[in-house]
Amino acid sequence: MTADPPAGQDRRLTRHADVRAVLADPRFLVPAAPAAQPVAVRPGTGMTWLRGAVSRFSNGAEHTRRRARAVGLLDALDPARLRREAYDRTRAELAGEACVEVMTRIARRVPVGVLATRLGVPEEWREEVVAAVTAMAAAYHLPPAADASPTGDAADAAVGVLGASLGVALGEGEAPEPGLLAAVAGVLIQACDATAGLVGNALAAVTRMPADLALRWPVEVLLAETLRWDPPVRLTRRVAAEDAMAGGVPVPAGAVLVLDLAAANRDPEVFPDPHRFDPSRFDPARFDPARFRQGRGGGGGHLGFGDGLRPCPGERAALALAAGIVEAALGHRLADSEIPYEPSPNLRVPARLCLQDPERLQAPNELQDPRECGRTSMNTHAETFPASQAADSRAPHSVDSRAPHPADFRALHHAQRPLVLPNAWDHASAAVLAAAGFAAIGTTSLGVAAAAGKPDATGDTAAETLALARRLTGLPCPVSVDIEGGFADTPQGVAEIAAELARMGVAGVNIEDGRPDGTLADLGERCETIAAVKSRAPGLFVNARTDTYWLGAGDRDATLARLRAFAEAGADGVFVPGVAEADDVRALVDAVDLPLNVLFLPGRHTVAGLAALGVRRISTGSLLLRAALHAVTQTARAVAAGEEIPAGLPSYADVQALVAADADSVLDQS
Ligand code: HEM
Repeated sequence: MTADPPAGQDRRLTRHADVRAVLADPRFLVPAAPAAQPVAVRPGTGMTWLRGAVSRFSNGAEHTRRRARAVGLLDALDPARLRREAYDRTRAELAGEACVEVMTRIARRVPVGVLATRLGVPEEWREEVVAAVTAMAAAYHLPPAADASPTGDAADAAVGVLGASLGVALGEGEAPEPGLLAAVAGVLIQACDATAGLVGNALAAVTRMPADLALRWPVEVLLAETLRWDPPVRLTRRVAAEDAMAGGVPVPAGAVLVLDLAAANRDPEVFPDPHRFDPSRFDPARFDPARFRQGRGGGGGHLGFGDGLRPCPGERAALALAAGIVEAALGHRLADSEIPYEPSPNLRVPARLCLQDPERLQAPNELQDPRECGRTSMNTHAETFPASQAADSRAPHSVDSRAPHPADFRALHHAQRPLVLPNAWDHASAAVLAAAGFAAIGTTSLGVAAAAGKPDATGDTAAETLALARRLTGLPCPVSVDIEGGFADTPQGVAEIAAELARMGVAGVNIEDGRPDGTLADLGERCETIAAVKSRAPGLFVNARTDTYWLGAGDRDATLARLRAFAEAGADGVFVPGVAEADDVRALVDAVDLPLNVLFLPGRHTVAGLAALGVRRISTGSLLLRAALHAVTQTARAVAAGEEIPAGLPSYADVQALVAADADSVLDQS
């Protein structure tokens, strides 16, 4: 942590120990609710009153009293019943449908509906109260607008709806006492978006696992790892009530600390191999709660539910509700590999997540277009979760070095440093690279062809490439597949293959214009192919490659013309293997407003040098395969000659663990 953050920025803590220490330190308070407007605020009405009346934005004795009331409501709930009801309602939503948009139909409606009913809301008010709580939740953390905005008006009215429903429950004409209304509203609002995020993030991870694997883990274990790996509440804030220390540096009274729960959950000092989605770390047979917990139950060391003096009192209820929903959805598949997230500064909640029932889909071409599945999200401002908020820190000890979330392949092309994309040729080479922490993995067509005993770039390895792609989507990082010229004779044929890869969960493809005879494919035909792929699989990152330099088939101008045409056709990135000179690289970077990918040429390039020129993605191509083949012959010769073999080789168990870890982690769709 820095003692003096840049002007206008709050200090951010990312280390697990530092975040925990602040959460347990009474000198750090929750930023209080903004003072009510001078206009009269009638108790029991409107968001300004509500924010000032809930436990969440209060401190001291007032907080203790209000929190006790919320805890009293929550303690009276039976988790087994919550779970059963959530399960039944989710099954009912999924029943008979080939494709269901979970965030609108289930992720809020089910948990908030079940909870509201258990807290006394009459059954016939259920849907209205769910909508009211959703509106209140959207406005909860915002300061009251000086002039009433439509959102503010809707949220203010929503407080009245909840009050009226409780009034009906209490007896005709009787309005609920404001303290009760604040406690029920506070509980339902806190439950709303956070539980939707937990459900959405868990389903996003779990539905990518093979069904039998997902079923192998208790749902609690899957939820625990989701809460660590992809927590819905990414951060919380504290303000120093007096001069204090945090993260080893002085913090003056009044300074605000951002506690990055998501980054702390990836602190390698607490969680080995923190970027891997690995439910086995919470396997009840292996997990040692004493190692993590000091005095508080649940959680398993992750900070998903907060910690210290005011952890989430809804943990038990949230886990029961989410467990019921996830259990009911196991066996369903994610319809779309790319998930948009709501634009929240502190929450990570999918805006849209479509699940498909494989049993209702006879053949791949029956897959429903996810855009047509369900209604749109209640949040109309959905956007892909910004990389800077993903808090997927690969260096959790530094304050601001937050890399993009691994699932967001596109964002990796726009990070501070270029994406170094190592290219694998089989499962083992990809798994070892993923385990080494590379943010994404590509494939090398030479490697795939050589492993199959075939020549490269002849279009003869479609089956091997697809089989490998299917296998690699089991890795906990995005995968981009080299499909050579596209493995089909027509743009539509290539688009079919691309769509199949997208359905598997592949994040991107490379499509090249080099032909087996060393000439370039017709530019118009390549552009048609790119356009067809983008229209069939819009979420797939299409890296359009020209082999002008690689084949010596065109000069700089020809290359620039091709890149511009690819960009026009809808490519997401452009790739020019073989370019070496800085001037050429610079010209290519300037040519199009898309990330430029170059092939790393040992002795000619450095990552830093390419970064300085503006390159956004650096591939290793066949380099790693060739290095491995070299190591194979060197080692065999050393054995034969009685010489020492190189140190540092992975053991038999290490290699076995690569497969087991992958299988235990996520996403083998085979
Ligand atoms: C049934 C569902 C839930 C209920 C009823 C609930 C309730 C609450 C309440 C009332 C508070 C305020 C506590 C206080 O002021 O002392 C709170 C805080 C919190 N909740 Fe929950 N919650 C639920 C779900 C979740 C979920 C799914 C998460 C995320 C995984 C979550 C994370 C948190 C965190 C991190 C805090 C503490 C914030 C801080 O320390 O500043 N909650 N919750």
